[in-house]
Amino acid sequence: MKKILVTGVGGPAGKNVAALLLERGFSIIGTDMQALTGLKYAFIQVPAAKDPDFSRVIEQIVVQNGIDQIIPTVSEELPVFARMQGNNHPGLSILISPAQAVETSNDKYLTAAALSSHGIPVPRFVLPSQVYSARDIERLVGWPCISKPRVGRGGREVRLHTEPDLREILALNDMYILQEFASGTDYAPNVFAGENGASRVVVLEKTALKNGILGNALSVRRVEDAAVGATAQAAAKALDCRGPLDIDIRKRFDGTPVVLEVNARFGANIRFAPEILEAALQETEMAA
Ligand SMILES: Nc1ncnc2c1ncn2[C@@H]1O[C@H](COP(=O)(O)OP(=O)(O)O)[C@@H](O)[C@H]1O
Ligand SMILES: [Mg+2]
Repeated sequence: MKKILVTGVGGPAGKNVAALLLERGFSIIGTDMQALTGLKYAFIQVPAAKDPDFSRVIEQIVVQNGIDQIIPTVSEELPVFARMQGNNHPGLSILISPAQAVETSNDKYLTAAALSSHGIPVPRFVLPSQVYSARDIERLVGWPCISKPRVGRGGREVRLHTEPDLREILALNDMYILQEFASGTDYAPNVFAGENGASRVVVLEKTALKNGILGNALSVRRVEDAAVGATAQAAAKALDCRGPLDIDIRKRFDGTPVVLEVNARFGANIRFAPEILEAALQETEMAA
């Protein structure tokens, strides 16, 4: 039986990936930066991804426990794991896209720029340093508009602005991105991007959001939406991803799907799309 290391098992994605693997009879070890107790599998506390010791600690766990595969689920860890790929650990696979795809996905401005250059619809976007007035914003992204950190997660600091917020918007630096507000339904397509640009997708619709009209999904349901599914798969291909993805897509008022962000890992709602995890295990020959 293959042994799988799942990171971030204290978070929603890690917790659900670990539970699905246990149900399928895999032997797993979980890690997290917080101490966790009462788990049904072995657990090791690890430093934060930004700690210079992080990679060394992970490599030690891999060697000491004979790990066959790492499934990273923590956003901050993704660039670190992407760079670790190809380090000399024969037989170890890391379930993550190539480093360039991970770097691009990690930054919402780079993601929007890369997708729009491939003709994939994204909300109109601009950097704060490129606007000087309410009219600039009207012309470039329209009112109301969204501001959010280029590198962020969990809906933190995502704000919807109207014109009276102009001073606040102009004070933002280029660590933020300004975007057109896509006012329609929010989706979380779960994707596994395989070799040769082939991919599987399950479209989940977010039926309630944490902050009412914005934010993480409080609940989801599976839907058949070919346009959302095709947009998610086209985004995966354009960014040259090969691995699990949790993509945020929203519809404009006219119903066009636009890509808000690409998370290069399994998402919190993977329980609603277990065939995406299964496709990943099969392609990487982990399936029992
Ligand atoms: N341009 C946008 N138009 C409409 N809603 C948005 C937009 N950008 C973000 N949101 C809302 O905010 C949530 C969080 O934004 P997102 O880009 O997914 O960042 P993160 O999840 O990394 O914090 C989205 O799921 C969506 O509900
Ligand atoms: Mg998101």
